[in-house]
Amino acid sequence: MDRKTYYITTPIYYPSDKLHIGHTYCTVAADTMARYKRMLGYDVMFLTGTDEHGQKIETSAKAKGVTPKEFVDEIVEGPGGILDLWKLMNISYDRFIRTTDDYHMSSIQKIFKTLYDKGAIYKSAYTGPYCTPCESFWTENQLKDGNCPDCGRAVQNAEEEAYFFRLSDYTQRILDLYKDQPGFLVPGSRVNEMVNNFLKPGLEDLCVSRTTFTWGVPVDFDPGHVVYVWVDALSNYITALGYGNDKYHDYQKYWPADVHLAGKEIVRFHAIIWPAMLMALEEPLPKSVFGHGWLLLDGGKMSKSKGNVVDPHILAGRYGVDALRYFLMREFSFGSDGPFSNEALINRTNTDLANDLGNLVSRTVAMVEKYFDGTLPAEQTAGPEDDELLQMAAALRGVYEGHMEQLAFQDALVEVFRVISRANKYIDETVPWVLAKDETQHPRLACVLYNLLEVIRLTTILLLPFTPESCEKAWAQIGVPVDRCNWDSAKTFGLLPRTVTVQKGESLFPRIDVKKELEALEGAV
Ligand code: ME8
Repeated sequence: MDRKTYYITTPIYYPSDKLHIGHTYCTVAADTMARYKRMLGYDVMFLTGTDEHGQKIETSAKAKGVTPKEFVDEIVEGPGGILDLWKLMNISYDRFIRTTDDYHMSSIQKIFKTLYDKGAIYKSAYTGPYCTPCESFWTENQLKDGNCPDCGRAVQNAEEEAYFFRLSDYTQRILDLYKDQPGFLVPGSRVNEMVNNFLKPGLEDLCVSRTTFTWGVPVDFDPGHVVYVWVDALSNYITALGYGNDKYHDYQKYWPADVHLAGKEIVRFHAIIWPAMLMALEEPLPKSVFGHGWLLLDGGKMSKSKGNVVDPHILAGRYGVDALRYFLMREFSFGSDGPFSNEALINRTNTDLANDLGNLVSRTVAMVEKYFDGTLPAEQTAGPEDDELLQMAAALRGVYEGHMEQLAFQDALVEVFRVISRANKYIDETVPWVLAKDETQHPRLACVLYNLLEVIRLTTILLLPFTPESCEKAWAQIGVPVDRCNWDSAKTFGLLPRTVTVQKGESLFPRIDVKKELEALEGAV
């Protein structure tokens, strides 16, 4: 039987600046979900990439004295670029699309022509405000204090002959979509934003071509026009599967996407314009769009132009990739905004990873080595202190799964660490060092240590999507082969052989000196 498929996408990033921790956030979330679904046995397609056309890129390249292609190549493929960052962050994408790839560009031309032939696109003239950094057209009454309502920056007046997409035809169909398919746009607050800000006032036709610059996909049947960058960008989700091209042949297999992840400011593109385009193309709609929140710095959205970028290279380099990945998924509720600070990153790493998890692993392994020369004896005696811990551990997988299916990463991690904390408390309750002094208590001591090893095994399997490298290191220490650490085995307590042998290794998460690090970071960032 064919395996069930799971198709997840991140937005494709603008290679206009260095990526910051905010971009890393969404990509880590997608990676976590992809790893989780693979663990469940799904055939996963995890797509990410770069959105390389548009006026903003053309202008930035000109300012640097290079061609737009040279400019994007350097940011995407150059040292310290986007591909390097994803490698560093252990991002397990299955496919990476660049909108300058030939196959994508020829698909866009076909999509544009199809929409035109179907009458969904028509030629007219555009006059009105345009925000170049956001590549967004606005109407006068959408502006906020005369500026772009998304980023607050000044808009330019654009006036040009252009093609338009009949978005205004889709107001009711998009409203019906939200009603008939309640999981289409999550969390629910995003639905209200779309309905109140865009659908209730009524959608207006969307300008989908530009003539004042050339860095884009040319409209092949009307020279001088390039396709609006958002039409080009959104279509990546299907061109990357082979829609309109022969490069790939996975459209039937993976489409419709299970979930598109998108930051809240680009939800309207994903939850209004994109489904309308697909309706016009008469193609199936994605199953869901998840509009995540922003990491805030000093109360505002991070951005290079605001000069307050936080560099993931530096943070991952200092604290480890897994600590950074864990922090991003644990500290913030995925659907909401949250304040980023280096202090919170360090404190979270120290509290959860160094103290709770790291100590549990190192203490347990050290005790097995000290009291039993590294191998537990077969004779083991259960005790009344075991019950609560064992029950919590056995129930964990189900609770975790419920949260993961909702992309509630924070809640899933809270549950895992509840069991880890309970295990640390269990050590205090059972006092192994007292049991060790009395030979007759050694079967009880062996059982306590076995239970701790089992809790480590179960919790680290569930942490695998979040902190993959550290989990494998923990398994090596508790003597369990990697191939035995899988979703199936996370269901049952007691799968480790009773006479398991441990192997002490280096500390998983060394404690960080908060004060020293904060001072060092001030100098580094
Ligand atoms: O919007 N916190 O690209 P982009 C959380 N090319 N997320 C953040 C963030 C922050 N501080 N800053 C940015 C684009 N992001 C388009 C997408 S998709 C067909 C085209 C997120 O590089 C932001 O919310 O400007 C968005 O989802 C993503 O980074 C890409 O932003």
